[in-house]
This record gives sequence, structure tokens and C-alpha cells, in this order.
Amino acid sequence: MWTNTRQVILKSRPDGPVKRSNFEIRKKKLRELGDGDVLVRTIYMSLDPYMRGRMDSARSYAANFEVGAPMIAGSVGEVLESKNDDYSAGDVVVGMLDWADYSIITDNGGLRVVNPEVAPLPYHLGVLGMPGLTAWIGIKEIGKPKKGETLFVSAASGGVGQIAGQMGRIAGCRVVGCAGSQEKVSYLINKIGFDAAFNHREEIDYRDALERDCPEGIDVNFENIGGAMLEAVLEHANNFARSIQCGAVSQYNIPKDQRYGVRNLEHVHRKRIRMEGFIVTDYWSRLDEFVKEMCRWLSSGAITYRVDIVDGLENAPEAFINMLDGANFGKQVVRVGDE
Ligand SMILES: NC(=O)c1ccc[n+]([C@@H]2O[C@H](COP(=O)([O-])OP(=O)(O)OC[C@H]3O[C@@H](n4cnc5c(N)ncnc54)[C@H](OP(=O)(O)O)[C@@H]3O)[C@@H](O)[C@H]2O)c1
Repeated sequence: MWTNTRQVILKSRPDGPVKRSNFEIRKKKLRELGDGDVLVRTIYMSLDPYMRGRMDSARSYAANFEVGAPMIAGSVGEVLESKNDDYSAGDVVVGMLDWADYSIITDNGGLRVVNPEVAPLPYHLGVLGMPGLTAWIGIKEIGKPKKGETLFVSAASGGVGQIAGQMGRIAGCRVVGCAGSQEKVSYLINKIGFDAAFNHREEIDYRDALERDCPEGIDVNFENIGGAMLEAVLEHANNFARSIQCGAVSQYNIPKDQRYGVRNLEHVHRKRIRMEGFIVTDYWSRLDEFVKEMCRWLSSGAITYRVDIVDGLENAPEAFINMLDGANFGKQVVRVGDE
């Protein structure tokens, strides 16, 4: 049977901020399934900052998207047809699918069957998926916050940040965050138990905000935005602080030669700060262990999770552009098809 699908393709590579014209939506007739193939209908698709790097031609840890080919995203979908013994029609799966209504996945392609009863489906792209594992590894393996320490989290209301902060609270830390609106700041303090938070778009000098909200300095930094915020954090870090280098989203849309040059790296040796970067895919073998612990926290209410759903595949490019600019409030997903 032939399947017609819509696909969002990368039409051109962005030079600076991503534009709507970098994408094109096309209709495509998918080929018939061969041995080992699975036809998957997309239900929810995740939009993540790392995709911005994949749109460039420069080599990075994840393969570049190809111009003229579909964008790819972590997605939840339903198996419609399978010529692979590991999957059956009706299975709910999580894996890397095209930005499309339908995708053909060949030779397993990393698809994981999930139990749709365990949690709302978008959670598999957030708190129980890649962003959740990212926060969990960063906190557990790199930051290792201890009771009474101060943890600072940037992009704190986002897909990763909201989990990192709540894990800090569970560990008994003073948890402080920054986010891009008053509504997000109020969510951090009143809904998920941050001790203090500030709106980075309103602060004139980040150092004053950190001075005010982290009076005992910073022991653990969960770095999501980089640039001027990282510079201010290094200024305010305590001796022997740990900086979990998770991301630098404030820099992704800026041409390489115009990116913010952090000017005070000497604090790293003077204060004996341990800065460590990591990429979540190196820790994929820890997924089951992570999911077990996160399910416990979710069912006890120790961790709650906010998801921001945009409707319609055709709105994915705009939602991606807006997410990079902070329009998302919680983990950004796109609803592509009915549950
Ligand atoms: N190392 C890894 O393996 C790994 C894996 C996943 C994610 N990450 C990184 O983790 C970070 C968070 O990712 P996420 O998926 O949770 O995304 P997210 O926080 O849900 O969304 C991105 C957020 O970045 C903030 N932002 C954008 N431009 C900014 C700027 N100029 N200054 C300050 N904040 C800005 C916005 O929040 P506000 O409205 O609050 O400004 C926006 O909502 C990113 O850096 C990402 O690359 C790393």
C-alpha cells in the first residue's frame, strides 16, 4: 500500500537566526515496506535546541540534517504496519522519526516500544525521555549537589531545566533559577519549589541578580544558556563549585564569529571549579535506571512536569523558531496526529 505523507524538509541552512524560509512542507508518496521496515504514524514530535546545530553544515556530535531531506525529531508514534518481528501494528513507539505524518523506519532504527498507560504520551519526549535523562545525568554524575548547597539552573522552566531544579530540591539544595518571563518565574517559585528565581530579560546586570538570589554563592551550576549568564555565574561561584555544561542556547542562533566570549575563565582555576560537558546519548545505557527513578518521583508527586503543545505539523517550523527564542513554556512538543 502506498502512503501519502506531509514532510517538513530543510530547504536551506540558516545563517544566524532560523527563518521560516529555511523550511518547506512537501507532500511525498512513501515507498512500499521492505523486509525489516516499520511504518509509523507520528503522534507527538519533540522540538529541541540541539536541532539548531544539526541545521548547520559544521560537524558536531549529531549528524547534520541534509538540505532537501526531512528534519528528524524524537517522536512518539503508532506502528501502522510492520515487516519487522520486533514490532507489531498498534505498538506505541518512541524514536527518531521524520518531521512528517508518517515515516518508514528501517532495521529497528532505535525504536522503543513504550506502555502508553505509564504516563501521558508527551512525557516520553520530556520527563521520561531525552531531556529528563539529560537533567538526571547532569545532576547525578557531574553536579552531585549536596544538602544545603546552592544550585543555580538557567532556562529553568524548560524541558531540561525544570527537572534539574526539582532534583536539586529533592537533594535538599537551595535552588535558584532564571527564566524569560514573569509567568515562568512565578511557576518556578510557586509551582515547582524553587527558592528564588529571576527574569533574565529584565535584569540589567546578571551579577546583581545572582548576588541577591544566591547570597551564599553558587555551588552547582546547571548551565543551559551560556554567554553572559555563564560569565556572571563564574563570578559568583564558590570555591570547588561544579558547573554542569549542558548547553548554551543563547548562542545557537548567533554566527560563530559573533558569539559571546566568556572573559573570566580564570575563575575556573582560581576557584578550583570543575566544569564538565556531557552529551546525553553517551548515557543511553542508563535509560531504564533513570525511567524507574523518575516514575517513582512522578507518582509520589516529588517531580511535576510542564509540557507546551503546539498543534499541527504545519506549525512545527514556527514553533521551533519561537522555542529558540523562549516562547515555549515547558517542554515543547508538536501534536502531529491523534492519540
Ligand atoms: N548536553 C546534552 O546532551 C543536552 C541534551 C538536551 C538539551 N541540552 C541543552 O539543554 C538546554 C535546554 O534545552 P531544553 O530542551 O530544555 O530547551 P528549553 O529550555 O525548553 O527551551 C529553550 C529555552 O532557552 C531559553 N533561551 C533562549 N534564548 C535565550 C537567551 N538568549 N538567553 C537566555 N535564555 C534563552 C528560553 O527560555 P527563557 O524563556 O527562559 O529565556 C527557551 O525556552 C539547551 O542548551 C540544550 O542545548 C543538552
